[in-house]
Amino acid sequence: MRVLVTGGAGYIGSHGARALKRRGHEVVIYDNFNTGHRELAQGFELIEGNVGDAFTLARALRDIDAVMHFAAHSLVGESVQNPRKYFENNVGDGLVLLNTCVECGVHKFIFSSTAAVYGNPREVPIAEDAPKQPVNPYGFSKLSFEYAMQSYDPAYGLRFMSLRYFNAAGCDESGEIGELHDPETHLIPAALQSATGARNELQIFGDDYQTPDGTCIRDYIHVDDLAEAHVLALEHLAAGGASNILNLGTGKGHTVKEVVTTIERVIGRELPKRIVGRRPGDPPVLLADPSRAEKMLGWKATRSLEQMVASAWKFHQLRSRARAV
Ligand code: UFG
Repeated sequence: MRVLVTGGAGYIGSHGARALKRRGHEVVIYDNFNTGHRELAQGFELIEGNVGDAFTLARALRDIDAVMHFAAHSLVGESVQNPRKYFENNVGDGLVLLNTCVECGVHKFIFSSTAAVYGNPREVPIAEDAPKQPVNPYGFSKLSFEYAMQSYDPAYGLRFMSLRYFNAAGCDESGEIGELHDPETHLIPAALQSATGARNELQIFGDDYQTPDGTCIRDYIHVDDLAEAHVLALEHLAAGGASNILNLGTGKGHTVKEVVTTIERVIGRELPKRIVGRRPGDPPVLLADPSRAEKMLGWKATRSLEQMVASAWKFHQLRSRARAV
């Protein structure tokens, strides 16, 4: 298949693009480099454009069989400060893409959704039909887009897979691509920055949660496992499979302190770190029930937390070296 990958120069999108290529699909990356990085799109056919630009999109979609839509804003805190940005981009521009797909006859659509649609879950692990009660505009924007896809399926024949990510982590084994956010708010890259001196210390947000060691539990999933699930989801649609919504996680949780200990073991030294107060809006435990994805796609995350950390560390080091020369 020839696949348009929006946001293919971003963290998860660049891994999705590689996973498609490895399975023999043709990839066209569509990115405006607002938050994407040219180095992550290297080696791919590229169209520079906005997701809200119907004209450029219509030309880009001319010979395309399917779309993987990664392009989005994804900072929870920023979404609270500036919800307009999140609704304009994740919903408004996203709908321009969805409408242009329908108009151009592109009916296979893979969407990057998030565990943020569940808000503070009543029960863990979380299954897909658990209540959807986002606690921030980012979660609302992704859920709104899911509702649009669900409405477009019976009306316009759009077939979609909405993939709700838990905590994406790690980098491709090649070390060529990885997580590059500015500002960096995610735990593993923030901890690695504290290891290299790019930040003074890692702040651990709260150790008074009702969890075994008092720190929050998350379901970390290797970005290559995530990327492979996208390809399988697309192939499922191509084989005539129905639209669906799938959690992508491992079903296993790790506390922040466990992640820190794993990082210290991988890099061979202690991190400068300090316990500080809770970060507003952090649920104590987020854990996926990934059984639907396994049943539908025959997919299961296989990579460990150790592999996530080691691959992220490799990318971090290669990049620091490349910048030093
Ligand atoms: N944490 C720290 N210190 C840091 C960064 C994070 O202690 O410097 C902690 C957080 O409090 C949390 C855990 O590490 O307990 C993971 O935090 P991340 O910021 O890495 O990830 P989140 O769980 O906040 O975010 C993820 C996804 C979002 C999604 C959200 C849903 O990255 O896209 O889950 O709650 F919206």
